[in-house]
Amino acid sequence: MKILVVGAGGREHALAWKLAQSPKIQLVYVAPGNGGTHLDSRLRNVPITDPVALAEFVKQEGIALTVVGPETPLAAGIVNIFRDQDLKIFGPTREAAQLESSKDFAKSFMQRHGIPTAEYQTFSDSAAAHAYIDAKGAPIVIKADGLAAGKGVVVAMDLAEAHAAIDMMLSDNRLGDAGARVVIEEFLDGEEASFIVMVDGKNILPLATSQDHKRLQDHDQGPNTGGMGAYSPAPIVTPSMHARVMREIIVPTVHGMAADGIPFTGFLYAGLMIAADGKVKTLEFNCRMGDPETQPIMARLKTDLVDVMEHAVNGTLDQIELEWDRRTALGVVMAATGYPDAPRKGDQISGLPHETDSQIVFHAGTTHEDKKLVTAGGRVLCVVGLGDSVRMAQKEAYAALDHIHFDGMQFRSDIGWRALKRPT
Ligand code: AMP
Ligand code: GLY
Repeated sequence: MKILVVGAGGREHALAWKLAQSPKIQLVYVAPGNGGTHLDSRLRNVPITDPVALAEFVKQEGIALTVVGPETPLAAGIVNIFRDQDLKIFGPTREAAQLESSKDFAKSFMQRHGIPTAEYQTFSDSAAAHAYIDAKGAPIVIKADGLAAGKGVVVAMDLAEAHAAIDMMLSDNRLGDAGARVVIEEFLDGEEASFIVMVDGKNILPLATSQDHKRLQDHDQGPNTGGMGAYSPAPIVTPSMHARVMREIIVPTVHGMAADGIPFTGFLYAGLMIAADGKVKTLEFNCRMGDPETQPIMARLKTDLVDVMEHAVNGTLDQIELEWDRRTALGVVMAATGYPDAPRKGDQISGLPHETDSQIVFHAGTTHEDKKLVTAGGRVLCVVGLGDSVRMAQKEAYAALDHIHFDGMQFRSDIGWRALKRPT
């Protein structure tokens, strides 16, 4: 059979790479794909991004099912468009994707259904927002309501920073419509983890846990990014924490969406903040898999992903179990110079190592120009290592990364530090 993956990042390369391993697969299309999906003979890039044109392409090619990677086409209603034409697609509808595309929707949903999250209030009037900040004090967190490509959250450690964030979003309109409403919420202290499940409207299938590294530089310094590295599993999510997250967050969310008449289908990603006392709160929902979390998660998945996707689109996720590689997978992102603000493009990439059982390179911002592989975006590659411990996985990843070169490359040298710091 043929499958289509929508998107162009490292997440989509990892999903397509895994789907293509299935004996059921004839060809995996990636729209629009990247330099890495272009290189793999089992994958074929398709230069289409418009959802209506993609639905036409799927009918023409007899593609059996479509998996959507990024949030933008989901928020634009690609699932609604495909379902209207009886095409099988895994992802949330435009309405369900509001869990990610509107912070205000997500917060009021959580409040209504008793799902633990930071205390908050929503504002579109700047005077009222400034007054609320003065009343609450710092640290405090300001979030643009809409999708802002990672630029919409300001964790303000003092009042001046908080007021500046309000001015930036509500008065100067620097994030456009996305920042025309803001959620102001309580600052939460603790350790973050990514908790991703698959949902078919009713049944929930949890994926392996993972942890991301949001800051650009070592020791969690520098600006926030889309994610500079991730590993799976995340040791902070112990079996009892896993049960707690399912009970307090995931199950009430899936039931709540169904009860509200907006059943959730697709990957559901809860960004967690786990406090020192073991209490857990939801920082955010994403209606898709994480990037770079997907790369180490897919590297560990042993079950045929095509089987899983068929159950997901047929509403039978209760009939399949996932099997995971017992090793840790750890992915290090290599980013272009200037990332995250103004990444430079066009630098030639050399030294990509061959894939082995313990080293895999997933592409993100890469493309082919004159038969050369060059950088084409902020996050360029994610180099994944697998090993029997976090330390061994880290060694594998950095050993593979050592061969790779492009001018201006930036990467963190401490991916996995939280897991390494934990007492064993
Ligand atoms: P979000 O897109 O809502 O996950 O926010 C991006 C990042 O900002 C998160 O990964 C956290 O590191 C941080 N953050 C968001 N909300 C809070 C909060 N209430 N308290 C502390 N940090 C937060
Ligand atoms: N790595 C965080 C995200 O995908 O949102």
